Amino acid sequence: MIKKDGISALDVLTSGPVIPVIVVSNPDHAVPLAQALLAGGIKVLEITLRTTTALEAIQRIREKVPKILVGAGTILSGQDLHAAAEAGASFAISPGLIPSLLAAAYQESIPLIPGVATASELMMAREANLTELKFFPAQAAGGVEILQSLYGPFPQIKFCATGGITLQNYREYLALKNVACVGGSWLVPSEKIAQEDWSAITGLAQEAVTEVAKSS
Ligand code: 3PG
Repeated sequence: MIKKDGISALDVLTSGPVIPVIVVSNPDHAVPLAQALLAGGIKVLEITLRTTTALEAIQRIREKVPKILVGAGTILSGQDLHAAAEAGASFAISPGLIPSLLAAAYQESIPLIPGVATASELMMAREANLTELKFFPAQAAGGVEILQSLYGPFPQIKFCATGGITLQNYREYLALKNVACVGGSWLVPSEKIAQEDWSAITGLAQEAVTEVAKSS
């Protein structure tokens, strides 16, 4: 489903392959953080709606760092989805899937990538014609093995695996046929943000992106 910005959920998943999941508490951190990630080779990031400043952070990144694709995460309701679209997010990601959110997604101008963790949830998403999904919480829900099992009945579904992804395991996920990208907070440790250590964040991004390029 391609939306207003001309960006589809598939574009988001294929722009990875690693998507930092970020909690921004200070809106002044948003722009330098996005610039640091861009310098490290990151093309898409997710700002979680877990702080009161998240929408402002999205707005600032959209305006000042247009080369990076900014999405809103932790979308729990149709209202969240609407607020994210108004703030300028190019896409939205939810940890789970509920009928009211699916209904709201039809009305909004940005694509929703809903979270699933079971075959039944996946079938609900399919029924709504959504085939690019977040698999969450990836590691706790069965990790690489459950994703391999889901490939059998659902080969057309592409996942962004998140939740418990680390520098140690992310390449195992990316090697799966049905995983297009991985997301995670490991790329943006909260203490590095608090210290405003942008070069450390660029370094972590570079490390992740370079390792993927080596193994692909
Ligand atoms: C989330 O939505 O919290 C993400 O999936 C990040 O999970 P992580 O902190 O385990 O990387």
